[in-house]
Amino acid sequence: MSEVLPGPMPGEPPPADEESRTHRTETELELPVGVKPPMATFHAVRADEKVRSWIRSANQQTGAIGYTEHGERHALTTADGASFILKALGHDARRCEIAAVAAYLHDIGNVVTREKHGQTGALLSKGILEDLGFTFDEIATVMGAIANHEESEGGQPVSAVSAAVIIADKSDVHRSRVRNPKTTSFDIHDRVNYAATSAEIKVSRREKRITLQLTVDTAVSPLMEYFEIFLTRMSLSRKAAEFLHCSFALIINDIRLL
Ligand SMILES: [Fe+2]
Ligand SMILES: [Fe+2]
Repeated sequence: MSEVLPGPMPGEPPPADEESRTHRTETELELPVGVKPPMATFHAVRADEKVRSWIRSANQQTGAIGYTEHGERHALTTADGASFILKALGHDARRCEIAAVAAYLHDIGNVVTREKHGQTGALLSKGILEDLGFTFDEIATVMGAIANHEESEGGQPVSAVSAAVIIADKSDVHRSRVRNPKTTSFDIHDRVNYAATSAEIKVSRREKRITLQLTVDTAVSPLMEYFEIFLTRMSLSRKAAEFLHCSFALIINDIRLL
């Protein structure tokens, strides 16, 4: 007997309490130039010269070894998604801000090497956040979240912040991440990302469900390719949703797949 998936089936109206967020953020810094943001805030992290430089370098270096975009756009999209998930589930404002910080810094370890970038990034973030006045407890939460975001490095959800970072990171699949200008030489990662024309995260607090809704151009990449790459990411996302006492749903082109 086939398993009946919980949650809305295609065509069904969404639950009344569902909040959704387009999972793609533009990279304009909203801070007025020359104005120093208050210490120990997400804005202070974003405005920090060292952070800006290292995210820029991490992006350049991952590009040099053939990875999709890992810079300010991905950092900000992940930060926005992680804080949105916790806020929609009713977590307090400070925890949402710490989730944004952890998500913003989660790939900064790529400034050292791609391999073990979660662990390197956790250690780099320690000094950054100490200088910016975050508490030791907050820094510990951020370090744990960064070190545990990567499925290929044994990452596991270890806190609510960590779970939100995992889901927001794994959900950032979009054509704007592809840097290879030649479609004829796309690899599978390029194709899958290029095929995704929209990504949306939806959270229903009442139904206790987190949904990733994607629109994928199957002429660019068949859904099988998506699964080839994303199966492990989606299973870590499901684990992260469970940590937040939620189920995880994946809808591609209006078809419920998970
Ligand atoms: Fe990563
Ligand atoms: Fe990432």
